[in-house]
Amino acid sequence: MKTLSPPLHDCAPAMESFESEVLAGLSTFEKTLPCKYFYDAYGSALFDQICELPEYYPTRTEAAIMQGNAAEMAALVCPDSLLIEYGSGSSIKTRILLDRLPRLAGYVPMDISREHLQRTAAQLAEAYPHLDILPLCADYTTEFTLPPACRPVGSHVVYFPGSTIGNFHPIDAAAFLTSIAEVCGQSGGLLIGVDLKKDAAVLNAAYNDSQGVTAAFNLNLLTRMNAELGADFDLDNFSHRAYYNALAGRIEMHLLSLSSQTVHLGGAEINFEAEESILTECSYKYSLLDFAGLAKSAGLAVRKVWTDSEQNFSVQYLTLAS
Ligand code: AVJ
Repeated sequence: MKTLSPPLHDCAPAMESFESEVLAGLSTFEKTLPCKYFYDAYGSALFDQICELPEYYPTRTEAAIMQGNAAEMAALVCPDSLLIEYGSGSSIKTRILLDRLPRLAGYVPMDISREHLQRTAAQLAEAYPHLDILPLCADYTTEFTLPPACRPVGSHVVYFPGSTIGNFHPIDAAAFLTSIAEVCGQSGGLLIGVDLKKDAAVLNAAYNDSQGVTAAFNLNLLTRMNAELGADFDLDNFSHRAYYNALAGRIEMHLLSLSSQTVHLGGAEINFEAEESILTECSYKYSLLDFAGLAKSAGLAVRKVWTDSEQNFSVQYLTLAS
């Protein structure tokens, strides 16, 4: 028997927001593009490949932390909780939790990448036939409403793995954590993956893999603007550049213009000097102390921290600070 795909709740951003955000980012003195637009169907598939790369330590380190402490993590989630995942992608690490949470009121995988989300939701429905799966296609940095669950919901537990919190500038991260705290309320909590500061060589390798998958992931943003916004970026005239900025405590990913050139997009002309770059992603790395401070500024308190033995990555459980 074939399981029905769970119905999708669609709050995906309109094409107009893609165009206006891109134009805004490319009109400033230091050009930037929002990293959330990496994740079209192809970008999400490339990201899954990144997670398997030998140089990309975060995914396997986080998965091992989850595996090793799964029972303890699952015990923090009350029965009848609604588990809400921000940027669920393929929901691979989530299965470690779902396997141990048979009494959830429901699971809300939330992602901006519609097809990828639908495919994942269908696979989960097969693997977890008794779970109420409520896929929500949304940009979680904007307002969204949770889909209604069939069963009564006791509390909200947010799962935000992958150190995606690192893609926010600290000021925005604090505001974003505040919005998560509102979703959690008094009875819920937040299980979050946070990548930690470490040797720059390890960080640089993780974002400059030898197979060029991260480069393809970065450049796909240009392909996407060409396809969806009718832009004319010359893919051979831009290249991937990523490095750890120790002063700012972050990886910066750029698309570097290889010559002086003009690109057309939505009626606008965008000029690039040779060597000028577009900042496409920041990935902040935290110390445990820094992150606790950030959480506090959002009204949250760190209740539990799990790390690998080398303290390369952390998974943390936070609740409202009382
Ligand atoms: C989305 C936070 C998981 O910043 O490490 C991977 C995205 N970018 N390689 C990260 C990413 C380049 C990733 N996360």
